[in-house]
Amino acid sequence: MTDTWDTIADWYAERLRRGSAMHEFARDILLQQLPENLTGSRIVDLGCGEGLVSRALALRGAGVRGVDPAPRMIAHAWIAEAEHPTGAVYTIGDGCTLAPIGDGTADWVTAGLSLNNVPDLGAALTAVHRVLLPGGRLAFTVPHPCFEAPGASWAPETVDDDPPDTRGRRRTVGDYLAEGFWRSDNPEGARRAGNQHRTLSTYLTALLEQGFALEAIAEPAPTEPVRAEQPLREGLPPFLVVKAVRLP
Ligand SMILES: C[S@@+](CC[C@H](N)C(=O)[O-])C[C@H]1O[C@@H](n2cnc3c(N)ncnc32)[C@H](O)[C@@H]1O
Repeated sequence: MTDTWDTIADWYAERLRRGSAMHEFARDILLQQLPENLTGSRIVDLGCGEGLVSRALALRGAGVRGVDPAPRMIAHAWIAEAEHPTGAVYTIGDGCTLAPIGDGTADWVTAGLSLNNVPDLGAALTAVHRVLLPGGRLAFTVPHPCFEAPGASWAPETVDDDPPDTRGRRRTVGDYLAEGFWRSDNPEGARRAGNQHRTLSTYLTALLEQGFALEAIAEPAPTEPVRAEQPLREGLPPFLVVKAVRLP
């Protein structure tokens, strides 16, 4: 069977329920881009998955609507909401259209690790622009494009004149310029469901072309819990964080 986000939704939800330092890190660096108090704000969480980001935003006081095309992900989001109510609501929908969301109805759109899954980035940003109020903001994370390209891997250090104690495993870049759909063959990785690789310049240029101005770009260093979970990540930013404002 070829995996999709729907077929791996049970695995993904269980992984987050058990606690994943990497996913919590991704959530927290996204949330850092938004005010602490979101009372009165209306937020669309594009590609909400099982609701990790939506719940946190709702707990800050926002009215949150999570949108995701994978019905099983949305089912898990509702289950989590029933167990620990936050006020977040969820809808099945495609981030390339955000069809369930009205024009100019959101102060923020968040997209945690989801724009790297949409097949048409331009369409998704057009939809985000449509649902945002003028002056509204998009904040998103993606796996850092420089280190998560197709074929990126961990390889032994091979610089012969390094002293032995500095030899370790290093990230190999992979096919950075090979934009498009690819699927990881790691049976334990979320990207076995496939994802869309795009370069840094593709993300940033698309934002500018779709009527946004950049407000913040960050490449946060992995925290101690992330390094404990994945020691090889030390010294590399796992994610790219971007905040942009919708121009009138
Ligand atoms: C890595 S998960 C992230 C989920 C959640 N935002 C989080 O931080 O845990 C990626 C999500 O992108 C969703 N996705 C895939 N294609 C999409 C699309 N066209 N529009 C919106 N979301 C999409 C998947 O269903 C999946 O839930």
